[in-house]
Amino acid sequence: MTFTTSRENYDAFMGRYADRLAPLLIGYAGVQVGQRALDVGCGPGSLTEALGELVGPEHVAAVDPSGPFAAASAERVPAADVQVGTAESLPWPDDAFDVALSQLVVNFMSDADAGVGEMRRVVRPGGTVAACTWDYWGGMTMLRTFWDAALALDPEAWDEARNTRYQDVDSLRGLWLRTGLGAVETDALLVETSYRDFDDYWEPFTGGVGPAGEYCLSLDPDRRAALREECRRRLDDPEGPFTLSATAWAVKGRVD
Ligand SMILES: C[S@@+](CC[C@H](N)C(=O)[O-])C[C@H]1O[C@@H](n2cnc3c(N)ncnc32)[C@H](O)[C@@H]1O
Repeated sequence: MTFTTSRENYDAFMGRYADRLAPLLIGYAGVQVGQRALDVGCGPGSLTEALGELVGPEHVAAVDPSGPFAAASAERVPAADVQVGTAESLPWPDDAFDVALSQLVVNFMSDADAGVGEMRRVVRPGGTVAACTWDYWGGMTMLRTFWDAALALDPEAWDEARNTRYQDVDSLRGLWLRTGLGAVETDALLVETSYRDFDDYWEPFTGGVGPAGEYCLSLDPDRRAALREECRRRLDDPEGPFTLSATAWAVKGRVD
């Protein structure tokens, strides 16, 4: 997966959603002022920054396997403890945090059971482990439009909905229960993002971010142009600004 891009590329594609999702996940998890908080799979730092604004940046830690993303997060929140690493092997001791959050990451972990298990390990008893993932089947309009257009032109197109394990409340609840977390709850988080015009929607795919960007770059120029036109058609050929909504499924549980 392509997560070694710049913050600018990521923000144009997904950061514009992640910035809006972060406060919702923080509120859902019930993070309190002064708590020690961990952001797992921080990317370029949307959630890291939002956590820092609430609990104080010196109380925030973050980790991501992407060097450029970890560097961007560290630049965004200089007082935070930002490390390069994976969820499956977190570089912090047991009980180091009051809360561990992971935004749009569990599907990218090579072993989500191990990753969430590590999040549980580093949170003190009584603390919270929470995460969210996109509703790839329908609620995440930006990606759903892209993959539906891709499938219309290429039935073999790699569709995130068909190739992603954690994308509904049942699969997330199962992961949290398997990890031994208690008081498990799930909910939906809804965000919206505005686009200046169709190019503002399309161009970020050509930055190669994530599975959709990777698929877009794999196409030859003619097929990419056809996909662009199919996306435009499915968005009703917007002339000017438009807004897309995105639903994420969220899960939280208590460390008993
Ligand atoms: C869709 S991005 C989400 C980034 C950020 N949390 C946000 O909300 O913008 C997925 C992130 O998961 C990271 N990632 C991939 N494998 C991971 C792993 N095993 N452990 C932790 N993070 C991982 C990627 O590097 C990438 O930054």
